[in-house]
Amino acid sequence: MDDPIEELLAKLDLPGKLRLISGASLFRLAGDPAIGLAEMPVSDGPSGVRGENWDERDPSVSLPSGTAVAATWDPQLLGEVGALIAAEARRKNVYAVLGPTINLHRSPMGGRHFECFSEDPVLSGEMAAAYVRAVQEHGVSACPKHFVANDSETDRFTVDVRVSDRALRELYLYPFERAVEAGSWMIMDSYNGVNGVAMSENPLLDEPLKGAWGFDGVVVSDWGAVRSTEGAAGGTDLCMPGPPMLWGEPLLAAIRSGAVPESAIDDKVRRILRFAARVGALDGSPRPTMHFTDNQMRDVVRSITTQAMVLVHNDGTLPLREDTAVALLGPAATEPRIMGGGSATVIPDHLSTPLAGLAAVLPVTHTPGYRLVEGLIPAPLELITDPETQTPGMNVRYFAGETEIGTRHRATGTVVMLGDDLATEATLIELHARVRADVAGDWEIGFGGTGPVRLDIDATVAIEENVTMTGGDPAAALLNPPQRSVTRTLTVGQEVDVRIAVTVQGAIPGLGVVMGVTLGIKRPQRSEDEEFTAAIELARTAEAAVVVVGTTEHIESEGSDRTSLRLPGRQDELVAAVAAVNPRTIVVVNSGAPVEMPWRNDVAAVLLAWFPGQEFGTALAEILTGVAEPGGRLPTTWPKTIAEVPVLDTTPANGVLDYTESIHIGYRAWLRAGIEPAYPFGHGLGYTTWSSSDLTVSGRTATLTVRNTGARTGKQVFQAYLSRPDSAIDRPVRWLAGFTTVTLDPGQSRTIDIELPQRAFEHWTEHGWETEPGVFTLHVGTSVTDLPHTADMN
Ligand code: BGC
Repeated sequence: MDDPIEELLAKLDLPGKLRLISGASLFRLAGDPAIGLAEMPVSDGPSGVRGENWDERDPSVSLPSGTAVAATWDPQLLGEVGALIAAEARRKNVYAVLGPTINLHRSPMGGRHFECFSEDPVLSGEMAAAYVRAVQEHGVSACPKHFVANDSETDRFTVDVRVSDRALRELYLYPFERAVEAGSWMIMDSYNGVNGVAMSENPLLDEPLKGAWGFDGVVVSDWGAVRSTEGAAGGTDLCMPGPPMLWGEPLLAAIRSGAVPESAIDDKVRRILRFAARVGALDGSPRPTMHFTDNQMRDVVRSITTQAMVLVHNDGTLPLREDTAVALLGPAATEPRIMGGGSATVIPDHLSTPLAGLAAVLPVTHTPGYRLVEGLIPAPLELITDPETQTPGMNVRYFAGETEIGTRHRATGTVVMLGDDLATEATLIELHARVRADVAGDWEIGFGGTGPVRLDIDATVAIEENVTMTGGDPAAALLNPPQRSVTRTLTVGQEVDVRIAVTVQGAIPGLGVVMGVTLGIKRPQRSEDEEFTAAIELARTAEAAVVVVGTTEHIESEGSDRTSLRLPGRQDELVAAVAAVNPRTIVVVNSGAPVEMPWRNDVAAVLLAWFPGQEFGTALAEILTGVAEPGGRLPTTWPKTIAEVPVLDTTPANGVLDYTESIHIGYRAWLRAGIEPAYPFGHGLGYTTWSSSDLTVSGRTATLTVRNTGARTGKQVFQAYLSRPDSAIDRPVRWLAGFTTVTLDPGQSRTIDIELPQRAFEHWTEHGWETEPGVFTLHVGTSVTDLPHTADMN
């Protein structure tokens, strides 16, 4: 036997094999020293590498989220993203990064829309393939997820998605097919079912994934997606999280009784060993670290962020002169959302807010105008002192009964314990800090958490309550627990002593204690109306107003879908009122997915910033002042109103979510319905102008001459769509076939090629892929509705 994988497999007895096909712990694959296999930590997620802990002591670079990355339309840029992610993974001893998320934007209501790339399978597929190559080139596995049709969150553990084979092949499976083609070493399956069978046991894992596509890597379950012991006979290779439960002792018995064949287990183990060889977990040598300095990291992230922002509307107000006196308004100016909620969360070591970024380059006055966060915020570090260390942060003490079993300094106002060893042994955890008032007035001081909690302020009991969870997904309850607070009137500089004692609710078998506790505060605030009026006054006298509006972590998060596309609270009203007093009003939208913008034609410019990661402020400053141009183009259609969205509903009926629209999602559905959205797929403006001419076609390549006709260097994305007039088949009005991104200096011209893969001409039938004979029309331009060039193609 000279196949090293077979040699290793032969050394394992059945219990040894079973130990490898379940995780060792929450985020760790099992090792086996007897065969030289190291344990392999894995980590979320797509826009940064959290590592095994949810902890500010081991921070992570926070990159723009999925929609933002796709908005670059630049697979090459993903080379840099991938290198950065791989470097972070190596630094944190992570062997696989659980991303990218390549489900489709079927409906803008999808709660994890921000995490996914696009409504279009070709753009998603190109980005997925580039991401996989870029990360794996550095010896770290990517893990495209969630296979398949996990395009919304309502009832995500149980929903059965009914979808036609054609829609699966042409839309939902396509990005995975490209990721496999790019050599992905791991794929994550999903919680939902497809056409009646849970995805962790679904035959789609065998065909096409492992069969026709030849995927030879590991299919890992989504966390908790494995439903049964007998399901081990199916296509999932690795059951996460660990330690072994359904696939532990019960599986051993099922194999011994003949209910599950051992050959199925051997196939899984071979795949896991092959994976281990690929990521360097078999050779016993430590993996070299990849070095990025902090400055290099920031530069790369800032550059991706500027290339992702989409300027959808500009009357010429942007870019701003660097001496423009700006009134910076809006709740997200100082409290931005840099990432969506849920497992994609990372904890960066710093965050550049729009206020910090803009104030560094422009004369800025600021007031929020409206506050989005109604409750407490985690106490900012500059306001809390650990009484033990006298440094910023809190002291966390762990008690088992009366005995203190450990104490830790934490430089944060919020702690998330996920399998924390001390917490797992503890019966009570106490957070202790001195909180300092930086303004005079009525402060709210309290906590976020669940279970029996006691809040002491200055050694007096302020709240004692058994706080119960208010339903929802366990992850949502962990990250957004209920809040309680009391009011204290404080003078500037006054300190109060705050202790929060939480009784530990008990460990989850195999996982340990899972809980989140926050020391929360709310500063004294002007009344809502006074604050609103103050903002309008600032806007009235400024040369330009920049209003940063956005969604919240409750609206765009894993575990639930959206209920509205409106900006929450009075933000629409604020924008309209500011625009009424300042004709140079620029709105920056900080959301991961579409929102309604009823004021969009009454303002000077609208910039979509997405969830932009840690360099939000510096990147925004570069864009607004023209140091960089907004490089993004829409990866998804932005509707005018929710009422017009052709594919909207994500609520299952009797456990079933029927994709009745089949292949018509996104712009395909908008074009078919004949409704004009607010901004079409592919749209986005830069700061220069372009011309294009001389479209020719040779084989499957379209060639176009393009020229930057403006006075600045600029980026443009040339997009090629196909249509098929008089087709005998139900088809989209047109569909994206390929694209090319180009950056040119003023006056420069270039001949560009756009490759059009054969697949773009094919459709799925019960006999497989087929091409309808006859002529297709090629359309080339800069958005799905701006396509000046056409040519016939056979
Ligand atoms: C999510 C996955 C994630 C996993 C581990 C699941 O709930 O759906 O995307 O990778 O948790 O955190």
